[in-house]
Amino acid sequence: EDQEFLDAFQARIDDEQKIEPNDTMPSAYRKTLIRQISQHAHSEIVGMLPEGNWVTRAPTLRRKAALLAKIQDEGGHGMYLYSACETLGVSREELIDDLHSGKAKYSSIFNYPALNWADIGTIGWLVDGAAIMNQIPLCRTSFGPYSRAMIRVCKEESFHQRQGYELLLTMMQGSDEQKEMCQDSINRWWWPALMMFGPSDKESIHSSQNMAWKIKRFSNDELRQRFIDATVPQAHFLGLEVPDPDLKFNEETGHWDFGDINWDEFVNVVRGNGICNKQRMKDRVAAHENGAWVREAALAYAAKRAAPQAA
Ligand code: 3HC
Repeated sequence: EDQEFLDAFQARIDDEQKIEPNDTMPSAYRKTLIRQISQHAHSEIVGMLPEGNWVTRAPTLRRKAALLAKIQDEGGHGMYLYSACETLGVSREELIDDLHSGKAKYSSIFNYPALNWADIGTIGWLVDGAAIMNQIPLCRTSFGPYSRAMIRVCKEESFHQRQGYELLLTMMQGSDEQKEMCQDSINRWWWPALMMFGPSDKESIHSSQNMAWKIKRFSNDELRQRFIDATVPQAHFLGLEVPDPDLKFNEETGHWDFGDINWDEFVNVVRGNGICNKQRMKDRVAAHENGAWVREAALAYAAKRAAPQAA
């Protein structure tokens, strides 16, 4: 595309116009949106797996109902996002194939195992809490279908975070063993939750261009800091200790200073060497293959309905 076209597009972005599927757009804008939206959708679908293991082990019917509702929501979020992505001219089959072949990513956080019931609380509180921090600004992303999907997602996400936090609050008023379970849980999930925001700004490949195109409204480090500032007081209210010896409130900046993130671990997990990567893909491929008959039946039914009625 020539510079005049790119400048005219940038002027639309600077004017806070929403870009819609039928608008002309730079191929790189389309490409980075397909990349981000599809990986966001993959994260929602793979994110159902760690929690799915605990539906049959929920301690009460109320907890089971909340967990089932959350998992069902995640599936719906995946569907909205795949549909938003398809408006960019890519098929659902292609996106799913890219996930199963390992070509496409999903959020590193879902490669950690949910080991006990406290983890279900921590996942809601920290993982969905981090997701909310990242998804609220995405409600104002420049691509119309993505922005509208996010507005719906964020309404449901706050219930996810709230039910997780309330679960931990209940456990923290329980036995010493339950309190230890919660502390062990935040010890395992705190740092991987910080990695959800992506590499540091200086390492981020896409941030500068995506921020120029107002796909990303705040940098990875800005959102990570915002999450830490909001979450540390919640941990203290729960009576939990944040597993970071360098965590210290900075009176001057008004932010919490925190320790170094283990980026080797992040790269290793994203590369596929996390605890659950292989299991997650195995489960996803099996679910897709076992669900083939549903897709075939739906397509056959749709074809029958579309076929011209015999006179
Ligand atoms: N896990 C896996 N890959 C990650 C990652 C993570 N936590 N963070 C970054 N990456 C990847 C990026 O995808 C990119 O790789 P790619 O070029 O192959 O796509 C590479 O690392 C470099 O990162 P960048 O910062 O340059 O990439 P982005 O500008 O795309 O920023 C992002 C990464 C902040 C995750 C951004 O893509 C984003 O905001 N995505 C939408 C939100 C999202 O996907 N959240 C995932 C969790 S969804 C969720 O938790 C569901 C909830 O209901 C529980």
